[in-house]
Amino acid sequence: MRKILITGGAGFIGSHLVRHFVNKYPNYNIYNLDCLTYAGNLANLSDIENKSNYKFIKADITSESDVFSLFEIEKFDAVIHLAAESHVDRSIANPMAFIHTNLVGTVNLLNAARKSWGSDLNGKLFYHVSTDEVYGSLNDIGLFTENTSYDPRSPYSASKASSDHFVRAWHHTYGLPVVISNCSNNYGPNQFPEKLIPLFINNILNNKPLPVYGKGENVRDWLFVLDHTVAIDTIFHKGRIGETYNIGGHNEWKNIDLIKLLCSIMDKKTGRNPGTSESLITYIKDRAGHDLRYAIDASKIQNELGWKPSVTFEQGLEITVEWYLNNKEWLESVTSGEYQKYYDNQYIKR
Ligand code: NAD
Ligand code: TYD
Repeated sequence: MRKILITGGAGFIGSHLVRHFVNKYPNYNIYNLDCLTYAGNLANLSDIENKSNYKFIKADITSESDVFSLFEIEKFDAVIHLAAESHVDRSIANPMAFIHTNLVGTVNLLNAARKSWGSDLNGKLFYHVSTDEVYGSLNDIGLFTENTSYDPRSPYSASKASSDHFVRAWHHTYGLPVVISNCSNNYGPNQFPEKLIPLFINNILNNKPLPVYGKGENVRDWLFVLDHTVAIDTIFHKGRIGETYNIGGHNEWKNIDLIKLLCSIMDKKTGRNPGTSESLITYIKDRAGHDLRYAIDASKIQNELGWKPSVTFEQGLEITVEWYLNNKEWLESVTSGEYQKYYDNQYIKR
């Protein structure tokens, strides 16, 4: 039985990845380490919580003693590291939390893996899950490749870029077997309603304004979360040690065009008159330092490892909307309490 530690497995992408590994690989023992911040939710994993090859560990990656003793006891063979503070707007409001978790937490895990594995590196792997935002912002043309220079511009992307550098440094200096992937914007079921798509679905359901930053002309490259989990699986098993792989959907959308598509799907699925959701669009003050455009060149993973996205954006968005409509209790549970305070600070008092 291979022992695999997945960090951040109660979050959006992590929960899909944990489910995928637990179900697809009964010969792997999957350990999900998560400290359950506002973004972590064990309800995301209720369908697999009793599987014999799954174990949840509540711990904080920034706690050196907890992380080291866990590696000592469990003797993991591999790590897939997703735990992070992940939202740009929160990083603008509170950058220190991002430095602490994304940087200190990552280095803690690197040190613990290094100590635990020693010189016996056969079959060992430290897989670091990162973002395309480390590359900065593009103008109208060009794509991020694996050779694009790092140019992070938000506290979130700067913290992720730093963590990528530390992962590479542990590979080059200490010989730790690592691989890194940098993925574009994900969307899908279970995404916390602070990111664009679930926030707007939730607001439409509650007839609240849809707060579009600036003129809505920023461009993002969207990938369905289950396509990301398959990409991670592919890189985990077939990626070359020390390499970086960009993951993206070849699916660029101007925010305002995406929002209008989402509005029309919401009208259709909720039986509202066409145009009802769109009438909620409200342009508000732009995000500070708002990156104009992200777009990924995913040819390396496609050509080398044979991965490509499996669903179109329209299909993925329909699946996503249906999931939120069928899981209103999930939405209500994560938007009660603290969420309201966050929402007021971010959108009402700004
Ligand atoms: P998320 O915010 O939904 O989940 C993060 C998880 O990490 C949560 O379960 C949270 O409880 C946990 N966590 C946070 N701090 C922790 C700590 N100190 N100790 C232990 N657990 C902690 O994030 P996500 O969207 O699922 O992103 C997962 C990873 O993928 C992140 O590393 C992110 O940078 C990267 N990524 C995300 C996207 C995207 O579009 N969401 C795109 C590319 C890369
Ligand atoms: P987001 O989902 O926060 O992801 P990221 O900032 O990592 O790309 O935002 C996606 C895009 O949507 C980004 O250009 C900012 C914009 N946006 C809004 O216009 N309004 C909002 O309320 C949010 C959350 C995002």
